[in-house]
Amino acid sequence: MFRTRITELLGIDYPILQGGMRWAARAELAAAVANAGGIGFLSAHTQPTPKDLEAELARAHALTGKAIGVNLTLLPANTGLDYDGYVAAIINGGVAAVETAGGNPSKYIERLKAAGIKVVHKCVTVRHALKAESLGVDAVSIDGFECAGHPGEDDVPGLVLIPQAATKLRIPVVACGGFADGRGLVAALALGAEGINMGTRFMLTQESPLHPALKERFVQATERDTVLIGRSYGDSSRVMRNAVSAQVLEIEKKGGATHHDLLPLTGAKRWMEAMATGDVEGGAIPLGISVALANDLPTCAELIGRIVAEARQIVHGRLPAAVPV
Ligand SMILES: Cc1cc2nc3c(=O)[nH]c(=O)nc-3n(C[C@H](O)[C@H](O)[C@H](O)COP(=O)(O)O)c2cc1C
Repeated sequence: MFRTRITELLGIDYPILQGGMRWAARAELAAAVANAGGIGFLSAHTQPTPKDLEAELARAHALTGKAIGVNLTLLPANTGLDYDGYVAAIINGGVAAVETAGGNPSKYIERLKAAGIKVVHKCVTVRHALKAESLGVDAVSIDGFECAGHPGEDDVPGLVLIPQAATKLRIPVVACGGFADGRGLVAALALGAEGINMGTRFMLTQESPLHPALKERFVQATERDTVLIGRSYGDSSRVMRNAVSAQVLEIEKKGGATHHDLLPLTGAKRWMEAMATGDVEGGAIPLGISVALANDLPTCAELIGRIVAEARQIVHGRLPAAVPV
C-alpha cells in the first residue's frame, strides 16, 4: 500500500493511473491495471457510440471487481460525438472515476459528481488546473512537455510544472508525462504530486492491444524518437519519429499548412490503422519521451509491482543512505 490523497480518493492501493489513450485504452488494459492495484481509464471515444462504451465497460467489469475509470476527451475535433450519451453510459456503467481532458469539463462535472463519480481533470498548464479546481473537480492530472499526445504550447517540463501545480492547488495533483518507473514515482511524490499517470509505459505491456511490431519498435526507441508536430498551427502533438511525422514536419517547415490540410497525414484514422496493423511508418502515433525508459513488455501486474518495489527501495534504501539522519 501507498497512501496519498489520490489513493484515498480513488480507493486504490498504489497511486498509479493509466491515462486514457485513444484506440489503446480498452477493457483488458484498464482491468489489468485495476487488478494490479492502480486504476485504468478506458477511452470513451474509442468506442463509436455510448452503447459500445457500455458494452466495453461491462467487459472491463467482467475482468476485474476493482474500480474502473473512463477518459472523456473534449477535443474540438471530436465535437460531433454524443458526449451526453457517453456521460450517461459512464453513469450507468458503474464507473468510479472520469478523466476529463482536452477542454473545459464544466458541463459534465455536476452530473458525474451527483452520481458519486470522481472527476480527475487532465490539463497541461497551471492556469487551466486552477480553473478546473474552481469548477469543482476532485483532482488534477498535470501533463508536462514530455507527454505523449497534446502537451500544449508552453513547453514547460514536469520538473517545473508539477511543483508549481502542487504549490498553487488545494486539490491533489497527479504528475503526468515522462513517468515510467519507480524513480519517476518517487520524483513525482517529491515534487508534491500524489500519484503518477502513465500512457506510453502502459501502452508497452502485455495487455495493451498495440500490434507486436510496434511494441518491438518502441522497446528499442530512445528519447530522440519522438517529435512535435502541429506546432506551426498551434496544436502541438508529440508522436513517434517516423516517415509520416517527418513528412508532416517537412510540410510545416514550408509554412501555411493548416490542421485541416494535414489531417490526411496526422488524423487519428490513419494512426489508429497503423497501431492495429503494426505499420511502423504508417501514421503519426502519439508517443511520449518516456518511451526511452520502457525497455520491455511486462504484464501490468509485473510493471506496477516493479515500480512499487523500486520506489520503496529508493525511499528506504538509496535516499536514507545518501542523507543519513
Ligand atoms: C496512443 C496514445 C493515445 C492517447 N490518447 C489520448 C486521448 O484520447 N485523450 C487523452 O486525454 N490523452 C490521450 N493520451 C495521453 C495519455 O493519456 C497521457 O496523458 C500521456 O500518455 C502521458 O504521457 P506519457 O506517455 O509520457 O506517460 C494518449 C497517449 C497515447 C500514447
